[in-house]
Amino acid sequence: MVSTPARERLNSGRQYLPTPPTPTPSPNQYLLPLTAQVNSQDHLEVGGCDVPELVQRFGTPLYILDEETLRTACRQYRQAFERYYPGESLVIYASKAWNCLAVCAIAASEGLGLDVVSGGELHTALQAGVKPELIYLHGNNKSVEELQLAIASNCTIVVDNWLELKTLVELAHPVSILLRLTPGIECHTHEYIRTGHLDSKFGFDPDQLEPVFAFIAQQPHLNCIGLHAHIGSQIFELQPHQDLAGVMVQWFKKAAAHGLPMRELDIGGGLGICYTEADDPPSIDDWAKVICEGIVKACEEQKVPLPKIIAEPGRSLIGSACVTAYSVGSQKVVPGIRTYVTVDGGMSDNPRPITYQSVYRAVVANQMSAEASETVAIAGKHCESGDIVIKQAQLPPTQPGDIIVVLATGAYNYSMASNYNRLPRPAAVLVQAGEANVIIQRENYQDLMRHDRLPDRLVEKG
Ligand SMILES: Cc1ncc(COP(=O)(O)O)c(C=O)c1O
Repeated sequence: MVSTPARERLNSGRQYLPTPPTPTPSPNQYLLPLTAQVNSQDHLEVGGCDVPELVQRFGTPLYILDEETLRTACRQYRQAFERYYPGESLVIYASKAWNCLAVCAIAASEGLGLDVVSGGELHTALQAGVKPELIYLHGNNKSVEELQLAIASNCTIVVDNWLELKTLVELAHPVSILLRLTPGIECHTHEYIRTGHLDSKFGFDPDQLEPVFAFIAQQPHLNCIGLHAHIGSQIFELQPHQDLAGVMVQWFKKAAAHGLPMRELDIGGGLGICYTEADDPPSIDDWAKVICEGIVKACEEQKVPLPKIIAEPGRSLIGSACVTAYSVGSQKVVPGIRTYVTVDGGMSDNPRPITYQSVYRAVVANQMSAEASETVAIAGKHCESGDIVIKQAQLPPTQPGDIIVVLATGAYNYSMASNYNRLPRPAAVLVQAGEANVIIQRENYQDLMRHDRLPDRLVEKG
């Protein structure tokens, strides 16, 4: 069995016992934020902050985002591309994983650009101070308003389809674009998040590309500078990325033959993370190395000058930087079948288990060295039988008021959160060197009703 940093840090039958990470591991291979430790009170500590204390101050559910882990992942990506690629490179954070002012600002301060997929994400990125020339707008059905905002802000647009191309021609403003293609590479990942195969709603089919290149070559305002592809998410294999490099360089050459000023190759994101000790993803460094080598080799073979590489990781930048703290409430024992331990959140703050059957790992933050002697289901509080955060969690016995912390919740949790059952969305705090700052305020009941309108005729007259 392969030994991974995640596994090394988990003791079967026990809760997490930390070992100081030296040398700094790749955050995506680590179940907890890099700063996680157990303090003298037997509490989980993240970013120098005692988790039960954070819960007292800020309530539950609470997203706890570790700045150091996020910054470390940003730096590892940048440094790896600088190390392995002799040409220019840019790492852009796929902000759909978690788009808010603070996260965008941290990514930008680490020299990353940003991938956005809507006017809302674009607006947030601009407000956070991300340089427009480092922002790439994605989306398979961008509105005219979203395209106009991107053009006015001077962002690059990743064009997905013919309608979008024609709309851009009608808008008649100079704009830099990449073309998204579906390279026909399958990945062993969950069906719903697989985007790179031919039967995908995203991007141009390779068969369509020649007429697209010819069309663009006639358009004075469309500055087509590159190609984009994304083959899926939570991927542990390196081979598909190597294959992608070869396919992309082929099409890059064909586009250049049409006279398009090709200079950028955006290979998407997709590197997986550890959600449980069973997960064994490659490191950020290894992922970048394979991509860089693949592109250099393909360029040499096909006699194409080295393009600027763009990588757009989301999950592997932020996934393991965050944990979610919940308070334990009611418990139900179904004799001989299962014990349900209910927490004060669930599918509204983490829709991944019910949407993708995603599996998570949890610890009890106020008794870290207790033996994990029970297998229980951690249930959410929503009116939905499927609202189970973890089906089979190994935990010590818990009481109402204990704090269950679910690990690796940084990616696609807050960003997919909802108000289902009219639950206010949780707060998020950024922790660093013992300091905790609210980066997302907890919603209250007033927030829930802020867009409700009650027509006069429905108001009971006295
Ligand atoms: C176009 C595109 N780029 C980047 C990403 C980020 O992927 P990941 O979070 O797996 O790195 C996604 C995720 O779905 C995507 O669709």
